[in-house]
Amino acid sequence: MKSVSILFALALLSGANAFAQGAPRVEVFKNASCSCCGGWVEHLRENGFEVTTHNIDDVPANREKLGMPEKYGSCHTAKVGGYVIEGHVPATDIQRLLKEKPKALGLAVPSMPAGSPGMESPRPVPYDTLLVKRNGSSSVFASH
Ligand code: CU
Ligand code: CU
Repeated sequence: MKSVSILFALALLSGANAFAQGAPRVEVFKNASCSCCGGWVEHLRENGFEVTTHNIDDVPANREKLGMPEKYGSCHTAKVGGYVIEGHVPATDIQRLLKEKPKALGLAVPSMPAGSPGMESPRPVPYDTLLVKRNGSSSVFASH
C-alpha cells in the first residue's frame, strides 16, 4: 500500500515538472514609463505565459544588442525560447512560433499599431506580425 502511494506521489511530481517546463517564460525589456508595455505583459500572462520584466533606460540600445534591426523597432523587446520578440506581438503568434520553431531571429510588430495587444483602440488598424531572419530580412508571419 505504501509503495503505491509513493508511486502516485512521484507521478504527481513529474506531472508538475512537465507543466513548469511547458509554460514558456518571456523576459521583457521595457521602459518604466511605458504603459502600453504593461498592457502587452498582461496580455501574455492572460494567455498562459510566465513573464519577467526588466525596466531599462535605453530600449533601442538593448534592441540592437539582441540583434533586432531598428527598422522593426517598437516600444519593448522580449526574449522567449531562444527567440527575440519586438513590439506588440499577439500571444497566439508567439505560441505558434514556439511550436513551429522556424529558423529565425524572432517576431516583430514594428511601431505600435492601434488595436494590437496592449494598444487596444476603438479604431484598430490592420497590421502584420513579421518573421525576422538572422540576416535582417523578414516575411509576413501573420496578418491581423
Ligand atoms: Cu507599446
Ligand atoms: Cu511596449
